[in-house]
Amino acid sequence: MSQVISTSGPTLVIDDMTVLIFGASGDLTARKLIPALFRLHHDGFLSEKSAVIGVARREKSHETFRDEMRKAVTEFGRGKKVTDESWPKFANQLFYVQHDINDNADAENLRLQVEKIEQGLGLSGRRLAYLATAPELFLPSVESLHAAKMVPPAEERDKLRVVVEKPFGQDLESSLELNKALRRILHESQIYRIDHYLGKETVQNILLFRFGNAIFEPLFNRNHIDHIEITTAESQGIEGGRGGYYDQSGGALRDVLQNHVLQLLCLIAMEPPALFEAEYIRNEKLKVLQALAPGRSGPVSEWAVAGQYAAAAINGKRVKAYLDEDRIAPDSRRETFVAVEARIDNWRWAGVPFYMRTGKRMPARVTEIAVTFKLPPLNLFTTIECDGNLCGLAETRPNTLLFRIQPKESIRVSFSAKRPGMQYQVQPVDMEFDYSNFEIDLPEAYERLLLDAMRGDSTLFTRSDELEAAWKFCEPMLQAWSSPDHHPELYPAGTWGPRSAHELLQRTGRKWRNPGGTQVEGAKAAALGEG
Ligand code: BG6
Repeated sequence: MSQVISTSGPTLVIDDMTVLIFGASGDLTARKLIPALFRLHHDGFLSEKSAVIGVARREKSHETFRDEMRKAVTEFGRGKKVTDESWPKFANQLFYVQHDINDNADAENLRLQVEKIEQGLGLSGRRLAYLATAPELFLPSVESLHAAKMVPPAEERDKLRVVVEKPFGQDLESSLELNKALRRILHESQIYRIDHYLGKETVQNILLFRFGNAIFEPLFNRNHIDHIEITTAESQGIEGGRGGYYDQSGGALRDVLQNHVLQLLCLIAMEPPALFEAEYIRNEKLKVLQALAPGRSGPVSEWAVAGQYAAAAINGKRVKAYLDEDRIAPDSRRETFVAVEARIDNWRWAGVPFYMRTGKRMPARVTEIAVTFKLPPLNLFTTIECDGNLCGLAETRPNTLLFRIQPKESIRVSFSAKRPGMQYQVQPVDMEFDYSNFEIDLPEAYERLLLDAMRGDSTLFTRSDELEAAWKFCEPMLQAWSSPDHHPELYPAGTWGPRSAHELLQRTGRKWRNPGGTQVEGAKAAALGEG
């Protein structure tokens, strides 16, 4: 990340690059990858000397693929819309190759097709292969590249990089296995394990905020911080078509906590790296994960809660239970919510609880990190809090620092001020930096990450040892929750999770921030007593 991207235009243009997308018929390709590549091309980051090749099993012409992708970019693309002028420039570099990943006899054909396209554009065969397939096809895709003789020898390693989507394994063992199998063909430096949260603008800003300013970092430790909360809440349930996968191999722990939430934890808790470069940053993140431990000793139920949403009426409208969603087993015990109390056993954080939670069908779509500071040692003033025109006495509130990752990206500091008047009364007030002040349309996470992978910058990708440490932390929960005796605790759709999640904090006199957000904000959810 040593390069600087100025807001006036790209400083580094990707030239002579072939992007191969395995899984070109899938949702990810249409919703995220092609719109991101179109935008990079449009903004001048991806030069005319590059090719994007969709690879999938179905027979399809280049033209059909281009038409499908034009529709996808029109529907899902950010900002600048597809026009008759902008699209053909990109479409000229967009191709489709039919290939059956499971049929190695077909591999030779894959190479020949790709080479033909490259020759036509004068490309030298520097490639980025993006595995946007179902997880069970990650390894076969790489084996297919190998069988096609498209994996370069060690001295030319840099000519092929492979981006692997999540989930990278289902647990520690399967993740280690996948890693081992990939490493038989590829070198670690060629493997880019993607976590799209790291591509979000506001997530990257956590490091800049912490290590680019002098005023907050001296307070970022056990002496001044009471606790830290990380919330990744979604108001939607299980999106159409995802039920089977989510129910069999997903769940809130594997799907979001193990990757996105733990990555946020690393950024908020890590030590400053000696240099702002990939290996230095990843070393510091790894140390956080290695020091991560359950917040309490004893069984998993002492420090982690699994929940599942039940049917409810949200603003008078009935919302299904998880069990009634499409392609969910009627007796499924899969968790759609997880809350964890953890600690980081190091000098900086000893004794500071970290509370993390994520869930589907919550009251709002919101991701934030809330840092709560300790109270002043002596409470000298009366605190007044106002709600509209109504003001009353309240408990003294601690200072908080809030990183709002999405939506309405912002950073907010809450502190106490004197309420105007003849008495010394405290009123909590906020100082807020709103991202919209930049008046820049924030780039999509996939734009940033694709560009980095093409440049060979692995800073925002997860290294294998980080992944291993993250799975290790999750392993006791995975094991406890796979027992036939375990049942997730139900919570009505549209609420902030099951009762036990609140009790995790209540037992120490703390409580979760219940942040606002989009969609069902302020909604009243009522349990329907079913599901
Ligand atoms: C994905 C999960 O990784 O992240 C989804 O598989 C989840 O279940 C999504 O909905 C959330 O991402 P975002 O960017 O919408 O917060």
